[in-house]
Amino acid sequence: MDSKQREGGRRALGGMSWLLPLGLLVALGWACGSAHDGGMDHGGHGGHGGHAGMPPRVMDLPPSEGALDGAALVDRDPDPRVIEVDLEARPAEVEYLPGRKTTVWTYNGSVPGPRLEARVGDRVVVNFRNALPEATTIHWHGLRVPAEMDGTLAMQGPIPPGGSFRYSFELRDAGTFWYHPHVRSDVQVEKGLYGTIIVRGEGEPTAAAEHTLVLDDVWLKEDGSFAADDMNSLMVGRQGNVLLVNGRPRPIATVRAGERQRWRFVNAANARYFRLALPGQKLLLIGGDGGLLEAPREVDELLLVPGERADVLITPMGAPGSTLDLVSLPYERGHMTGMLPAANVMRLHYSPEPALTPEPVPASLRSIPANPEPVRTRSFKLTEEMESGKEPVFRINGEAFPDITHLEAKLGETELWDVENDTEMDHPFHLHGFFFQVVSRDGVAEPFRAWKDTVNVPAKSTVRLSVRFDGFPGMWMYHCHILEHGERGMMGGFMISP
Ligand code: C2O
Ligand code: CU
Ligand code: CU
Repeated sequence: MDSKQREGGRRALGGMSWLLPLGLLVALGWACGSAHDGGMDHGGHGGHGGHAGMPPRVMDLPPSEGALDGAALVDRDPDPRVIEVDLEARPAEVEYLPGRKTTVWTYNGSVPGPRLEARVGDRVVVNFRNALPEATTIHWHGLRVPAEMDGTLAMQGPIPPGGSFRYSFELRDAGTFWYHPHVRSDVQVEKGLYGTIIVRGEGEPTAAAEHTLVLDDVWLKEDGSFAADDMNSLMVGRQGNVLLVNGRPRPIATVRAGERQRWRFVNAANARYFRLALPGQKLLLIGGDGGLLEAPREVDELLLVPGERADVLITPMGAPGSTLDLVSLPYERGHMTGMLPAANVMRLHYSPEPALTPEPVPASLRSIPANPEPVRTRSFKLTEEMESGKEPVFRINGEAFPDITHLEAKLGETELWDVENDTEMDHPFHLHGFFFQVVSRDGVAEPFRAWKDTVNVPAKSTVRLSVRFDGFPGMWMYHCHILEHGERGMMGGFMISP
């Protein structure tokens, strides 16, 4: 930040200093004018080429009151097994920073968009209208929908401004899913276009309270507007300086000690890896992308990469009336991203009621069959190209989307996919239309079975997946879910014939 920007920052602060204590201003990085590690370092590094600095530091904003979960979509079909909803993409204004307006893009006026709640077997009809100034589509991340309903440009033309489209599909799997555009997704998702989908099945574990928690981060300037991308944000993916849970910085979850909560996490951030921990507490992972695991797994922390979901039971034990912060710990995903400090995500507030005795946790959840024997093995080599002064290019097997060769397979076949990351950073690999099981990571067998659609492939490592084409025929995509990477080449396609 040069001295002129710093002055501008001070002037801007003059108008809002009554809102925030000085200590907070310093924490925000505005009062001290910190440069490359600062929260307010917004762009202007276009000429630096390979040497592009670091993502911004996260501001430590005060906890915000209010309802934790956003609104659910209203079903206007009287048939209990048909859910018909209206969804409109349109700009709106929100207040992410105290006293500042941010113009966002929303579904039905809110970030996140309204939650879709349904049961396995329900039919969903979405009357979608595009009131954005540019073309868009909706992709139903993780849902096994017909290819022409998947929202990718492989099967659907972009919906122009003022245009509409009727999405219709049946829900096949219970779990936590999400929806977002598949056109310029790096820009459109950052601006706020995402929402969650909860599909319930039979025999799910019970909890006293359930929350869907969509995690995101936005990179804002001090006036509340979105910062411009720089070389670093294009290369490592755009990380923000404000963390959001359900569209709000640091919301408060009220819990009672000893009472079980079910939290469904979705990582909707462009690029941020959330390494979640609740200091002193265990998390019980019961499910992920494709629904429940076979048995709960007790963990101290949880790495959630962009696109990924985690279904967690927690039974927080703390003194009535006390507080505890859910944090995101440092994580090195390449290019010094791990140098950034831990950040607060959400505040837990223990109610004054006395602690309850925790209920026993179910020992098994369901069974997940092993995939059949593979009919072939494929390799996917992820590479990156940095040239000074140019936007980086990311490739899979030497090809950069949209100049790709579609792979071909048949419905019902199982394949082994070796995703080999030859780059200096991690990539979250995402598959449309079908779930996979992780077989091994760098040759080490995965200790448990799970259905997944997004998996982290750490730098200089290989993850082996077993992919079963159990779903619909058509043209499908796979890509890195760091949206800057997917939009800059790291995306491929495959054709499934009936
Ligand atoms: Cu959530 Cu093709 O992505
Ligand atoms: Cu997807
Ligand atoms: Cu990537």
